[in-house]
Amino acid sequence: MPNKIILTGDRPTGRLHIGHYVGSLRNRVAIQNAGGYDKMFIFIADAQALTDNFDNPEKVRQNIIEVALDYLSVGLDPSKVTLFIQSQIPQLTELTFYYMNLVTVARLQRNPTVKTEIAMRGFNAEGEEQAFGSGLPVGFFCYPISQAADITAFKATDVPVGEDQKPMIEQTVEIVRSFNRIYGETLVEPKAVLPSNAACLRLPGTDGKAKMSKSLGNCIYLAESADEMHKKVMSMYTDPLHINVSDPGHIEGNTVFTYLDAFCRDEHFGLYWPDYANLDELKAHYQKGGLGDVKCKRFLEKILNEELEPIRARRKEYEKDIPAVYDILKKGSEVAEVAAQATLDEVKKSMQIDYFNDSALIAEQAKRFSI
Ligand code: TRP
Repeated sequence: MPNKIILTGDRPTGRLHIGHYVGSLRNRVAIQNAGGYDKMFIFIADAQALTDNFDNPEKVRQNIIEVALDYLSVGLDPSKVTLFIQSQIPQLTELTFYYMNLVTVARLQRNPTVKTEIAMRGFNAEGEEQAFGSGLPVGFFCYPISQAADITAFKATDVPVGEDQKPMIEQTVEIVRSFNRIYGETLVEPKAVLPSNAACLRLPGTDGKAKMSKSLGNCIYLAESADEMHKKVMSMYTDPLHINVSDPGHIEGNTVFTYLDAFCRDEHFGLYWPDYANLDELKAHYQKGGLGDVKCKRFLEKILNEELEPIRARRKEYEKDIPAVYDILKKGSEVAEVAAQATLDEVKKSMQIDYFNDSALIAEQAKRFSI
């Protein structure tokens, strides 16, 4: 059996929200607890965050601890998972440089994630040029290559990510194939692990907009208090055509029902709303008419609180000893560096740039010069 190595990471540009949770974090904890893997690495992608926040290192620096607390509070366990900080592993940067030879500019320009990010960041809502107005930084343009280094340095086989990261994994697979073809079998092809539930793939914001985003103010954060969350759930976007309770309601594009799809299980009805046996029954009643939004929101709030309460409690515990959290990241970074160095050694050997370990080369050159 080949090794099963799980790896993933997040950019520290803000606190993590329930979109991250259903899209990937919940999955990671389940994988961690199910076992059956050789190693699991989860890291804070600060170097990648700097590719589009290079002028705001303070933001990245502040959010390292936020993301670390989010990781620990959802239940990632440092005794099972290596938690580390990307920038502390210099081998990743070195691998990136060698992989740059294996990717064309045209291929990077076609990367759908990079394409939308460039479009998104080119202009703000007022049409003013943003950070990239003066041109696209090479570092940002190349971040998919650096992401391939993150993944391959640990020989990751399974990468639990949100749907938006799929093109990154595809690009990594291409780099692995090119590398192995040119230099010999060295790197391992990864695969993306996505949530199976469609609602979890892309949880919309509380305003019904396609994505949760800090700048839109439509996120529910993992660290949100019950009070803040109450306000956000009660003001959630539902069905603009559902004006009177008796009106038939629409499920599609109705944020409350999308969130229920992502969070609700049959047993929640027994616990909080025994009038229905399951979500299908609730949906049928809503669609027929006669069921108010507020009742559905209260039910959703109970479910969210049930899920977030243990997360809030764990977070409070970890917040009591912040130096210990940094220490977890430091220890994890030490472990990660050893793993990445082992791969880098193999890469350099395959690329024949391990001169000082290459006794055949030294002997051959000695012979050439002794004639
Ligand atoms: N691109 C990911 C994000 O935006 C973060 C990331 C960096 C990552 N390197 C990775 C994810 C490697 C998975 C594997 O959140």
